[in-house]
Amino acid sequence: MRFTRTVGRIAAVALLFTGLVSFGPATPVATGDRQPRIDKELFGTTPEGVRVDRYTLTNGRGMRVRIITYGGIIQSIEVPDRHGRTANVALGFNNLTDYLENNSPYFGCITGRYANRIANGRFTLDGVTYQLAQNNGQNHLHGGNVGFDKVHWAATEIRERDVVGLALRRVSPAGEENYPGALDTTVTYRLTRDNTIRIDYRATTDAPTIVNLTNHTYFNLAGEGSGDINDHRLMLNASRYTPVDETLIPTGDLDRVAGTPMDFRRATAIGERIRNNFEQLVIGRGYDHNYVLDRRDPTFRELELAGRVFEPTSGRVLTVRTTEPGIQFYSGNFLDGTLVGTSGRMYRQGDGFALETQHFPDSPNQPNFPTTVLRPGQVYQTTTTYGFGTA
Ligand code: BGC
Repeated sequence: MRFTRTVGRIAAVALLFTGLVSFGPATPVATGDRQPRIDKELFGTTPEGVRVDRYTLTNGRGMRVRIITYGGIIQSIEVPDRHGRTANVALGFNNLTDYLENNSPYFGCITGRYANRIANGRFTLDGVTYQLAQNNGQNHLHGGNVGFDKVHWAATEIRERDVVGLALRRVSPAGEENYPGALDTTVTYRLTRDNTIRIDYRATTDAPTIVNLTNHTYFNLAGEGSGDINDHRLMLNASRYTPVDETLIPTGDLDRVAGTPMDFRRATAIGERIRNNFEQLVIGRGYDHNYVLDRRDPTFRELELAGRVFEPTSGRVLTVRTTEPGIQFYSGNFLDGTLVGTSGRMYRQGDGFALETQHFPDSPNQPNFPTTVLRPGQVYQTTTTYGFGTA
């Protein structure tokens, strides 16, 4: 197998040199560029006249990542397959208008101030009760009506040895979306030489508040718009998950995955058990659950393996590591064919999956969950990496 592949490659290169064919074996990511680089261009202008830039990060190793300053959205992630052929594995849109008007289901965005749900949009902190937007049935979801996914971020380019990146900063004023405290947030994306996207989240506040930040990229490792993700094989490093009620709010229990279709400790095709008549899957219309990661470091400082996904036809592998205690595995259940994505194809149910590293949903109302409270003088700091390879 390896031998024939090598022979094939030599033959392709030889043909190229003799000028018999004019295409390479892989789609070149940057015009002959082997060095990491970052480029900036205008992506669009909002109706209010705000310029939205798009930054293209290239690592000289076959990967290209595009990020826009609106919502800090990862618009595309181009990665080679096992034959070196590149495809965009992140769901999204190819123009700003679609992000602004099309009710994006949080494609690729920075999600906050509180990623995931808060029951009835209500929580009490230091004796004061705050009512947040109820923008998901009776619950609060992903920071409210205008969360971090729908605001403009100030960008600073990063050029380090072998690494390019983008630091996105925004101060969310006190009272924005009814959250207490001004939250000074920086989300830094880095693209490394070993095909990894590293995301560092940092926030400070001037008054006690709550915070839970994530990135909401939907992946399809065969390429966005190529079909459903049912054959992707998922491994999650989690023995427990937080079961939910019918409004997707955790019951407070940490249930074992063993013996249920929630168990991904051994790599299993996402579609294999997704239609099981298991109450949690019926409630979620598939997987839409927070997994409690089996961590060695209980202080949430070390980067530890959270999950791995393998797509058999392309051979692409995605490995997720995080400092966070949890990960939301969402199997794209609410994609419904109404959105047309970057390459002009419609997204249907299950055409992408998200692995959102996070603190657990509804933590402000769950005394037994790790705390999401941030106080003045403290620094909120988390890291997640999405590494790409092939097998
Ligand atoms: C949630 C889903 C929700 C989706 C938004 C995910 O993080 O878990 O329930 O529908 O975000 O599109």
